[in-house]
Amino acid sequence: MIKKFFFNKATHQDSETAKGTIEKLNDDAKYLLPLYGRPNVIFNKGEGVYVYDTANRKYLDFASGIAVNSLGHNNPIIINAIKEQASKIIHVSNLYHNENPAKLAKLLVESLEKKGKFADGAKVFFGNSGTEANEAAIKFARRYGKTISQNKNVIVSFNHAFHGRTLGALTATPNPKYQDPFTPLLPGFKYSPYNDIEAAKKNIDENVCGVIVEVVQGEGGLNPAKKDFIQYLRKRCDEVNALLIVDEIQTGVGRTGKLYAHQYYDITPDIFTLAKPLGGGIPIGATILSEKVAKTIKPGDHGTTFGGNSLATHVGAAVIETINKPEFLAEIREKGDYLKKGLIEATKGSKLVKEVRGLGLMIGVGLDEKVTPVAVADVCRQQGLLVITCGMNTLRLLPPLIITKEEIDRAVSIISKSIKYLEDKL
Ligand SMILES: Cc1ncc(COP(=O)(O)O)c(C=O)c1O
Repeated sequence: MIKKFFFNKATHQDSETAKGTIEKLNDDAKYLLPLYGRPNVIFNKGEGVYVYDTANRKYLDFASGIAVNSLGHNNPIIINAIKEQASKIIHVSNLYHNENPAKLAKLLVESLEKKGKFADGAKVFFGNSGTEANEAAIKFARRYGKTISQNKNVIVSFNHAFHGRTLGALTATPNPKYQDPFTPLLPGFKYSPYNDIEAAKKNIDENVCGVIVEVVQGEGGLNPAKKDFIQYLRKRCDEVNALLIVDEIQTGVGRTGKLYAHQYYDITPDIFTLAKPLGGGIPIGATILSEKVAKTIKPGDHGTTFGGNSLATHVGAAVIETINKPEFLAEIREKGDYLKKGLIEATKGSKLVKEVRGLGLMIGVGLDEKVTPVAVADVCRQQGLLVITCGMNTLRLLPPLIITKEEIDRAVSIISKSIKYLEDKL
């Protein structure tokens, strides 16, 4: 572990592991399935763009719970929505009506660009997570395909994609690390190289019912798609009557500076999926379907016990009402540009930084292979900044959307100094 090297009078005056933490974590490990690699820090409080550990040390949060806490921590908008609904009713199941799911569905449908073919007659299905939202999208695409031909059941996804961990979503995630322990996967899936129009033309044929794509790959390496590639997918899907499914689990609800990242690409998908930030920390997923797809789904075709529960959808409505404002979205774009420029400027001349890329407040710092993003994240954390990592040796920055420019300056300073610190040690 990196020893004390505090290059500014940061919040962490002592060694990184707070007293009692190791004992507590060893005890916890007796009961928790060890699925995650985690640092020896226990967080127990959040306020705005900061989280605090059990030693009351303060961390600027550029992880946002993997793009979930878009409105920060302990935000009164979220807290009040939870309190208000929890004291009324939390869950009634989908066997009965409740006012809240339809309210959020209406907000989502009305948030769609009117000029597109999507807006009229679009419908929403609610689940509880990103993977469930995609699982539903895959099933709906298969259902749609069957209305045309029994053989129209192939789903195409792209190299370096991440769509989730349930078997359908996992099969659409061509990463051996995630897939190999769980084979056999589902039949009827094909993979195509990202940003490769020729390959897409070959792979998307008449047997394809759905093409699922992230317009900015998140887990795979903060990799934005080229505009002509996404536009070609739209065209090709129309040619072979396949559905274009855009996975906006990470990019959606303002993260990139538009409500939905696909709006940068001037296309309308047939289905798109949301989750992470939509519930402000309360689990929720949403699959939004155009009318032509919705018409092929019959009662009983799909379902869920918790999905669309009164609490999650009430909070979701508060989140959408807050973020879906032109000024709020414009600020995200401005702050995203500011962060990107700041990082480029501060790491100029660094041998370890290859590229700064991304859209809005979804930014990746591509690193040279001499350093791992985990090493940079560790140093940043010891200086009071949380950042995460993703594929292609990339540091991933997903600050809360309410971040200020001063806080961005502080993060940029910690990141550039952390990288410099590691560079000096090479
Ligand atoms: C693009 C994308 N799709 C799907 C998922 C899966 O979402 P969840 O972890 O909520 O199941 C993720 C999660 O990181 C994601 O980034």
